[in-house]
Amino acid sequence: MGVLIKNGTVVTAESEFQSDVYMEGETIAAIGKNLPQKDGDEVIDAAGKYILPGGVDQHVHFSFTYNGSKVRGFETSDAAAVGGTTTLIEFVNQEKGKGLIETLENYKASDADGIAMVDYAFHSVMTDPREEVIEEIPKMAEAGYPTMKLFMAYKGMFFHADDDAILKALQKGKEAGVTIMVHAENADMIDVLTKQLIAEGKTAPYYHAVSRPPVVEAEATRRAIYLAELADAPIYIVHVTCREALEEIKQAYSRGQAVYGETCAHYLVLDTEDLAKPDFEGAKYVCSPALRTEEHRKALWEAVDRKWLNAISSDHCGFDYENQKHMGFGEGKSFADIPNGAPGLQNRINILWTYGVCQGKLSPSRLVDLCCTMPAKINGLQTKGRIETGCDGDIVIFDPDYRGTMSVKNNLEGVDYSPFEGFEQKGRPDTVFLRGQKIVESGKYIGQKGQGKFVPGKPFGAAYKG
Ligand code: URP
Ligand code: ZN
Ligand code: ZN
Repeated sequence: MGVLIKNGTVVTAESEFQSDVYMEGETIAAIGKNLPQKDGDEVIDAAGKYILPGGVDQHVHFSFTYNGSKVRGFETSDAAAVGGTTTLIEFVNQEKGKGLIETLENYKASDADGIAMVDYAFHSVMTDPREEVIEEIPKMAEAGYPTMKLFMAYKGMFFHADDDAILKALQKGKEAGVTIMVHAENADMIDVLTKQLIAEGKTAPYYHAVSRPPVVEAEATRRAIYLAELADAPIYIVHVTCREALEEIKQAYSRGQAVYGETCAHYLVLDTEDLAKPDFEGAKYVCSPALRTEEHRKALWEAVDRKWLNAISSDHCGFDYENQKHMGFGEGKSFADIPNGAPGLQNRINILWTYGVCQGKLSPSRLVDLCCTMPAKINGLQTKGRIETGCDGDIVIFDPDYRGTMSVKNNLEGVDYSPFEGFEQKGRPDTVFLRGQKIVESGKYIGQKGQGKFVPGKPFGAAYKG
């Protein structure tokens, strides 16, 4: 008994074509015109709709803590499903005194297994670069964790990493095909500017952007690229936001260096001016790097279209506005006390369809490459992000005629606000399958808690392909 999706337009990273898709068990069994129906099959007519691979969101925070404030976790992963994302990759900060794999396995057992509603993988975040921890990096690849991030930003926080740790991680990672990722912002520059702004009484959320202008990101991006050159290892830059950082990446390409990178949906559609909203509302938009101006958004749209950037993630961070973002409000408080990060898991693909595809900035194929295929390849998820026989039956039937408005009222992220409140929405994932099981119907989640499975990644992901 399988599922036969008929008459849709299949979109892959390379092309679009009219086809049926047949799923049997957990996998895609056939793709072609006029596929035969077998007894007991469910048949879905997808005429007028697109058939996309399930999205892969490789930048999600379900365990991030900032100044003691913790985000929502995997119990809200149905938000990914209704947004057309069937695999997500969560950043897990190494616990002090514990190993990388030990931390990942503890977190997986306590916070993901039996809870997740879509499939999942993990990136390790190295916070404690002792010699024995560096030596553990190659073992991560064998255990199904072939990626690791280091935070160049966030001076004074336990997860900040210096150049010493990044260089050693790059050198050790390449022995076993572990892809090293960095959050590229110069922590000292931010620290100096933050202290100066606060001393001048400039404490409102808007000054978050003033404390970390584009040069802060460009400097760290350049430094990370040179560290990777020295180690002769590939590098992946998470959440690239500005023209200057893009220039560093483009120059590295022209030197022949393997530099991969992503941006995130909010950097393409939100603005520094959002941080200036009155009555502390700007706090909703405090994320790092900071939101940028129109000039940078234009550069980012061009970069994702022209493959200078390889993926678009959500950097989802589910902090509430009322009781968490408000930690930066009141006497003696400032933008530096506001937890960094914004929710966005549910609307990543909707934003890119409405403001990318519908505005002629991205083709549907480019969207699929950025949101599904490349994130899977970068992370060594070999059966995800593609519509091909033998791949997992992760399928989104996307209705381009749907019209709606994005709002926290119809959002499953479990957070009390959405940074995309009131945004017009064109199109939506109508029906979503996770490994052949229907988990979304008419835009509503119908799956079950714990239905998601851990997907081990393979080492030597796309960044190693040069
Ligand atoms: O502001 C952000 N992006 N918060 C999440 C942690 C990070 O820096 O990625
Ligand atoms: Zn970051
Ligand atoms: Zn992040």
